[in-house]
Amino acid sequence: MSDEIKKGLLGIVVDETEVSKVMPEINSLTYRGYAAQDLCAKCKFEEVAYLILNGELPNKKQLKNFENQERKERKLSKTLIEDIKKFPKKAHPMDVARTVVSIMGLEDKDTKDNSHKANMLKVMRIFAKTPVALAAFYRSRKGKKIISPKKKLSFSENFFHMCFGKIPQKEIVKAFDVSLILYAEHSFNVSTFTARTITSSLSDIHGAITGAIASLKGPLHGGANEEVMHMINKIKKPENAFKWINNALDKKDVVMGFGHRVYKSGDSRVPTMREYFGKVAKIKKDKKFEKIYDIVEKVMIERKNIHPNVDYPTGPTYHLMGFDTDFFTPIFVISRITGWSAHIIEQYAANKLIRPLASYKGNQHRKVIQLNQR
Ligand code: SDX
Repeated sequence: MSDEIKKGLLGIVVDETEVSKVMPEINSLTYRGYAAQDLCAKCKFEEVAYLILNGELPNKKQLKNFENQERKERKLSKTLIEDIKKFPKKAHPMDVARTVVSIMGLEDKDTKDNSHKANMLKVMRIFAKTPVALAAFYRSRKGKKIISPKKKLSFSENFFHMCFGKIPQKEIVKAFDVSLILYAEHSFNVSTFTARTITSSLSDIHGAITGAIASLKGPLHGGANEEVMHMINKIKKPENAFKWINNALDKKDVVMGFGHRVYKSGDSRVPTMREYFGKVAKIKKDKKFEKIYDIVEKVMIERKNIHPNVDYPTGPTYHLMGFDTDFFTPIFVISRITGWSAHIIEQYAANKLIRPLASYKGNQHRKVIQLNQR
């Protein structure tokens, strides 16, 4: 057995999937064969969520049923609402995200049933309830009244309404919808692989998604969109950007929102998200963030040939939409629940316990000496 170690499973193919693929021939991420950009242009998030979970785009009737089911499941239990009100106000919303999914697992009547039918029902409940629980925390930590979900509102409209009590203009909602489509799925990224690893012991879907959320929180993964905003806030104004980013590179800092394990000449999602970042900045009449964005990107590419990833444009876009910075990664969660769930279902359908080997470099065999002689 070769002892050649591929740290971080770099370049290692560990399984097959039908959910998504980055197709170099079209330089695009594709979900079930459809280019993500094409989906952003022609679909709303609920259509893409259906596609990722079911393998096909819905027709009108299928979409209506899917939306009705999602909207019906938005309701939280009274216990969960009371729990959320008692969470520490300073708790990080990503820790709240994994906690509320765990509590949902305690409450879900189908927790013990891992059949496909039961899992799809549980997926819809987690998909529908997590945004509602996060928005409830968003308000309760500010001492504001929790706003209940509204069945007449779309997934994106409802999230804005529950967080802010109002729905922004449709161009802002569309930009948010596009960010959810782009965040929904990305093959065997670390949080998805975490979910598949947990599933591979035939554990349950709430546990797999809880683990995935914990993984996504990391700044090398989903947590990067929050770190991007912290970086932009440190830079403060466009005239500081050139010096700031060159200093960072001189210090060999890791610059958040840049680089990717799979994309080495640019994340295919960035052009679309950058376009919508520009639309939102125009509506908000704010040019500052775009100027900082462009200067930092130019230096990163010219000096290190390292390109932005999807977290780079998404961070400032969510800021301009009015979300608190520590809520950026939870927004990634409410979208990626679709991708994680599709992979969990796929893992169950063709499972093999995930159990890699390690190359041992510790002590050779040695005899134990009794305590009174040690
Ligand atoms: C996501 O996998 C997915 O699909 C993830 C994701 C998804 O949709 O699920 O796309 C979402 O997680 C996007 C990535 C968000 N993370 C960040 O923005 C954090 C900053 N990025 C880096 O930490 C890094 O680029 C990684 C972790 C994302 C990828 O790194 P790799 O593939 O492990 O490569 P590496 O860290 O070994 O870097 C290779 C070289 C190194 O230089 P040397 O040591 O060889 O001289 O490139 C340099 C790195 O220092 N480098 C960076 C850098 N990214 C790579 N240098 C400065 N800043 C960076 N951001």
